[in-house]
Amino acid sequence: MKGVILAGGNATRLRPLTWVTNKHLLPIYNKPMIFYPLEAMAKAGVEDVLIITGPSHSGAFINLLRSGKDFGLRLSYEIQEDAGGIAQAINIAEDFADNGKILVILGDNIFSQSLKKDVEEFEKMEKGAVVFGKHMAVASKQYGVIEVKNGKVISIEEKPQKPKSDIGQTGIYMYDHRVFDFIKKQKPSARGEFEVTDLNNVYVLEGTMICKMLTSWWVDAGTSFDELLKANSLVAQEIKKEK
Ligand code: DAU
Repeated sequence: MKGVILAGGNATRLRPLTWVTNKHLLPIYNKPMIFYPLEAMAKAGVEDVLIITGPSHSGAFINLLRSGKDFGLRLSYEIQEDAGGIAQAINIAEDFADNGKILVILGDNIFSQSLKKDVEEFEKMEKGAVVFGKHMAVASKQYGVIEVKNGKVISIEEKPQKPKSDIGQTGIYMYDHRVFDFIKKQKPSARGEFEVTDLNNVYVLEGTMICKMLTSWWVDAGTSFDELLKANSLVAQEIKKEK
């Protein structure tokens, strides 16, 4: 399976930190943010990884990450001209995916769990998609919310006012090769973006979306300054525990 990391977007919630740099280049304790999803790909056994970023800071990614050799990865790069949504960015990976399955990680998602077993299991599946969910202490209006009944995904709602469950949609997804056909049929949402939640709901309607729960800690470091700080301290704690 190949991997796709999304590192575009405008990161308006983290301004002024992101006025002159890309969010995914900001430090999380001792490394730039983008290192964490890259390491997650390597841990998952995914060796070919495409990084999709916006036009403004693309050169900095190549300067920083180069061929990917230091991570044990083969890196490719693509540019998303305008930040038109996560599904629009995923669509850019069509040629790279070469008719195979993909693991997508949003570049601001930081977590410690290995996805190796999940990737191996998904490789064997005939068709469908996987979304990773995370139980949230407080049902949050900041994330997509996944409703699961008897192990089946019933619905996914993007940042709902009244969440139907305490399962937040993380930014970790696996898709079969049909994902690009589904994106091409998608329409932009009310806020003008091609939403990952609309894409995931195509699989939900088909009955082929599986929700797997993340058991490790997980942070979407791009949500707010507090989440950015939390990611820094969780990584610091983990490093100190290992010593
Ligand atoms: O992290 C989990 C959440 O990610 C989910 O719970 C939501 O359902 C999902 O919509 C998404 O919400 P965010 O508000 O966090 O999305 P954000 O705009 O921050 O974008 C997430 C990542 O995708 C970020 O690393 C930048 C990248 N991105 C985003 C857009 C809109 C792109 O590469 N291109 C884009 O056009």
